[in-house]
Amino acid sequence: MSEGVFISFEGIDGAGKTSHVEALVQAFRDAGRQVVQTREPGGTPLAERLRELVLHQPMDALTEALVMFAARRDHLGQVIEPGLARGDVVLCDRFTDATFAYQGGGRGFDIAVLEQLERWVQSVDALPAGRLRQPHLTVWFDVPVDVAARRVAAARSPDRFEAETRDFFQRVADGYARRAAADPQRFARIDGAQSREAVREQVLQAVRSRGWLA
Ligand code: TMP
Repeated sequence: MSEGVFISFEGIDGAGKTSHVEALVQAFRDAGRQVVQTREPGGTPLAERLRELVLHQPMDALTEALVMFAARRDHLGQVIEPGLARGDVVLCDRFTDATFAYQGGGRGFDIAVLEQLERWVQSVDALPAGRLRQPHLTVWFDVPVDVAARRVAAARSPDRFEAETRDFFQRVADGYARRAAADPQRFARIDGAQSREAVREQVLQAVRSRGWLA
């Protein structure tokens, strides 16, 4: 049986990641792998309900962080861990780096609290005590804030995050850059300002270089 592979996709709103996740799903299926395509917040019935709340209901920063991690705990237990245990490829549109970038960077929420929540939530039975479940690879779509903002402006009804200011998204982008610098082996930085085809090639290259696709 193949080893499970866990890949997350990150970037500020408007970074253009979603269509590239779809392309990668297809590439893995064409290679004969079982793929679980999922997203955060969300991916289970409970987490999708929490997603609706957190995207649309006003709440303070601690509540927001707790809801993100509550949704993540359910998602890990119901979807991600079972998928990895079967040897599937789990492709997840956003994971914990988003919490560090949005709640930590964007909202300026206490990073030490987020780190504690990360330790509680991402301790899983399949890993030895002290090791946390993290993606094997995080594909980070790095785009200038102004480019992303133009794409988001075209969206019909923005949610609580999409409605945020340029300064907020600059802090989110800086938050992603800090997470990437702290774990450079896990992150593949994609220059998301390039053409769609060039971005697609960079994403495939990041996966091929790990030996998961020929
Ligand atoms: P999406 O539109 O890419 O599905 O993401 C939903 C929004 O939720 C997006 O604006 C980023 C935000 N978000 C957080 O603020 N913290 C998190 O931990 C996650 C997973 C998403």
